Amino acid sequence: MIRHILSRSIFIAAITTCSFGLAAHGSVTPQGVDTSTLPELGEEWSDTNPYRDAEGHDREEILRVGSSAYNQNCARCHGLGGVSGGIAPDLRMLAPDYDGDEWYVYRVQNGAVRNGAVYMPKMTEHLNQEALWAIRSWLESVSDTQ
Ligand code: HEC
Repeated sequence: MIRHILSRSIFIAAITTCSFGLAAHGSVTPQGVDTSTLPELGEEWSDTNPYRDAEGHDREEILRVGSSAYNQNCARCHGLGGVSGGIAPDLRMLAPDYDGDEWYVYRVQNGAVRNGAVYMPKMTEHLNQEALWAIRSWLESVSDTQ
């Protein structure tokens, strides 16, 4: 019986986390992403991915941080490893160019809200520019290999 109740509450907790995600302020701790090893970008949002042409050690760090930040903050809706399970769009499909960047920035800044329901939280409230461009760079790197 206790086991039954326990597994039920875990189930409900999982559902709640899935549907409301980070939108419920204060109820979910945003996943901290340590971006101290990445080139700094400042407060002003870049129009295009400033990390796209990074090379060598910088690029390795960008992809490492991007992969982990994605898996902690985006994967539960957009799919593990960037492969969408159908809940939310497959982010590997966004073109690695100006148009793709523009749409990416729009969505991470505004999230997706319809009729008051939050389908995607505003990710810029939880992650800085460095983390979000690192995620985008990582997504571009996995879409290259498809
Ligand atoms: C709670 C679920 C959820 C989480 C978490 C989430 N998203 Fe989303 N995202 C969605 C949904 C649903 C859509 C589709 C919205 C629509 O079309 O109205 C979407 C759309 C997008 C789009 C537009 C894609 C397109 O092809 O139109 C981008 C870019 C995006 N998300 C980036 C991210 C990033 C980056 C993260 C993590 C930092 C993230 N999302 C976390 C649910 C989520």
